Amino acid sequence: MDDDIFEKILRTESVFKDQATLGQAWVPKKNQKLLARDSEIKKLTAIHRPIIETEGAYSVNTLVLGTGGIGKTLTVRFFGRRFREAMLKRDIKLTIEYYDCLQHRTKSSILRNISERLHYSAGHGYSDNEIMEQILKELKKREESLLIILDEVHNLSSEDILALFNASIGFGEANTRFCIIAVSRPTDWYKVDNEKISSRTQDIIKMKHYSRDEAFQIMQYRRNLAFREGILEDENLELITDIVTENQNMRMGIDIMRACGIRADEHGLSSINSEMILESRNDINPTFRADVIDNLRLHEQVALWSVAKALLRSGDPYTKVEETYDIYMMVCEEINIKPHVQMSFRKYIRNLANVKAIHKDYLNPTIEKKGRQLEIRLTDISAEKLCEYFEKNIPNE
Ligand SMILES: Nc1ncnc2c1ncn2[C@@H]1O[C@H](COP(=O)(O)OP(=O)(O)O)[C@@H](O)[C@H]1O
Ligand SMILES: [Mg+2]
Repeated sequence: MDDDIFEKILRTESVFKDQATLGQAWVPKKNQKLLARDSEIKKLTAIHRPIIETEGAYSVNTLVLGTGGIGKTLTVRFFGRRFREAMLKRDIKLTIEYYDCLQHRTKSSILRNISERLHYSAGHGYSDNEIMEQILKELKKREESLLIILDEVHNLSSEDILALFNASIGFGEANTRFCIIAVSRPTDWYKVDNEKISSRTQDIIKMKHYSRDEAFQIMQYRRNLAFREGILEDENLELITDIVTENQNMRMGIDIMRACGIRADEHGLSSINSEMILESRNDINPTFRADVIDNLRLHEQVALWSVAKALLRSGDPYTKVEETYDIYMMVCEEINIKPHVQMSFRKYIRNLANVKAIHKDYLNPTIEKKGRQLEIRLTDISAEKLCEYFEKNIPNE
């Protein structure tokens, strides 16, 4: 490319006023707000109020549940920030740490990070229990409370979750304040939850989907923060809101707005139209897919992965059962599970079609039944994206 193109884009005025507000890490600043999540914020505040008002020990484990893109991460981070500010005003020492358990997948990793945050290093050679004791002593010495947010908590093992939930209670008994807010999707949480963990979970906040009106208001608010005036008109925002409401996933709306803005800048356009919205809708990764995939059994997941692999390999828009079965056997070997016979495999393909993870059709419906061949396609995600997903989330029991 020549430098002219580069300069040309940088010199034209961007459609964005503040593109960063559409980023993953956005949390409302002081003069900004969180819409439509008052009841969750109120409840979180009521639960954690004793940190301010009680002398001595206090500990509580709270679970926040909701489907993907419903605003869990945003809500708990917003709460963490505002709660900390309220504590500072009251001269109460509180450390709040946020952990994405996709990045911190073990209790060890989290405990070590906490001790680093408290500005002393646990050093090597200490066991988790010893580190926990050190943290406890340090908190006590400083008369400080600790609140940790464990987002995507299902990435930890049940044992690690239980140990942390127990720890908060153990810490509490030792006259320290240690609270946990754990965040997950219901379909993920049920995989790690057990009776012991439940008995250590004092409160569960189940987040509800936004109504269409709420979704529209949120979209308007986010648009006004991100774009200059007149770039994205209400009537086009309605279209985005329809997509959000249909999928019950706010992330899709935010991602569509961001993608459209970037496209406008790239082509030097000064507004976003409906065509751009519909096109970018196809490009973004619908996270709600993950909910569907989670509900599949192991071999159904592997079958779906094989369909995606077969399509990616051939580059054709559809594949056939036999081809896919060969790949299925290879994948089973790669991930160390025993493949099932082809008849079972056909059943998995049927199940996948029933939940609309794939679409199947007869290629040549006119000829007699025996000679007909099934053609398998993916529904609304590309083979590439699906393969990417499975590589990151290898199916397991
Ligand atoms: N009430 C809201 N106000 C503004 N933006 C929201 C709201 N709820 C969700 N969002 C946005 O939607 C996207 C998905 O929210 P997120 O908290 O990441 O969902 P989850 O953690 O439940 O998957 C994020 O970009 C977030 O900023
Ligand atoms: Mg989240």
